[in-house]
Amino acid sequence: MSTILHDMSEMRRSHGARRRGSRGERPRRTPDMRQQAGASAGGAHVPVLAEELLDLLDLAPGATAIDCTFGGGGHARLVAQRLGPSGTLIAIDRDPLAEERFVALAAEVSCNLRFIRGGYAEGLAMLTQEGVLADTVYFDLGMSSMQVDTRERGFSYSYDAPLDMRMDPRQELSARQIVQDYDERSLARLLRDLGEERYAGAIARAIVARRRQAPIETTQQLVDTIKAAIPAPARFGAGHPAKRVFQALRIAVNDELGQLDAALPLAWALLRERGVLAAISFQSLEDRRVKRFLVDRARGCVCPPDLPVCVCGREPEADLLTRRAIAPSAAEVAGNPRAASAHLRAARKRLATDVNTEVHDHGRAA
Ligand SMILES: C[S@@+](CC[C@H](N)C(=O)[O-])C[C@H]1O[C@@H](n2cnc3c(N)ncnc32)[C@H](O)[C@@H]1O
Repeated sequence: MSTILHDMSEMRRSHGARRRGSRGERPRRTPDMRQQAGASAGGAHVPVLAEELLDLLDLAPGATAIDCTFGGGGHARLVAQRLGPSGTLIAIDRDPLAEERFVALAAEVSCNLRFIRGGYAEGLAMLTQEGVLADTVYFDLGMSSMQVDTRERGFSYSYDAPLDMRMDPRQELSARQIVQDYDERSLARLLRDLGEERYAGAIARAIVARRRQAPIETTQQLVDTIKAAIPAPARFGAGHPAKRVFQALRIAVNDELGQLDAALPLAWALLRERGVLAAISFQSLEDRRVKRFLVDRARGCVCPPDLPVCVCGREPEADLLTRRAIAPSAAEVAGNPRAASAHLRAARKRLATDVNTEVHDHGRAA
């Protein structure tokens, strides 16, 4: 894991040079890709639920924010503007493209900046060891438009590319390795558990049969295998027939659920009193984890309901800021189809005094 502390003036100079030298490097997007990634107009990442997130974070100038999924820096730019010159933004991402975007952003904003290249679970653990405290920690989970748009990285079922899907190209495990090496049972379980794929068994069987003939090396070969394995009506139903399999592989390759499970308690511990933890999820496996974690922090007494008074002494540590997840408006989805499945949840850490003065009587005390 690398961490970069950026000197602003030096970064502004180097970004000028980078901008002049980088024209024409980005691949062109097809309408199908736009549908899948949704969010990148003219190369700039359009952040999802941005206004709603900023309202919940409620940042004051001078605050410290940790963006665990910097991506294209869409949310971070808006957050940095709120923090002002006395504020601090710590950005984390495991993707080298995100690091490039961070350098570009640093040329535009005035707050103190730091970038940690690595998994957010490891990044947050490192910040904990350093004794950092933050006013907000937020996540915008899943893959970025930039990752989908860079065809050779193999995130998209719309391009023919090598099966890869690594957010961090330094890591060894790729989608190709999983498709090539997992036995049929493990593949079926992965597709069912991480993709909620209805035809997991049939697809796993088809993958194993096909790779006996020749290795499955590309996204197109995988898409063809999936299409041949599922019933004809499912090939033309709602959504791309390979969508769930690609989601499952991407989650497995990048250990997305393991990272989230490890990161949420670390993020919570890094928050100052009155600090806000927020997360935007794009699929139910992540949203359930976020919801469970926040609801658990907001839960007080856990005594059996037949006890007349509380003996556990457990106090709520959090106030939920979103009783139900916030979803994007119809207008946002119309402008950015990728936002369609987004769910935003947040909670505020209570003051220690709030926690200690809570009274539990189970509502039954005389
Ligand atoms: C949806 S994008 C974030 C977009 C960003 N909020 C914006 O407005 O531009 C998710 C980003 O999180 C990064 N990411 C996903 N899981 C990660 C992890 N466990 N550790 C670090 N970065 C991660 C991805 O590389 C990707 O760049």
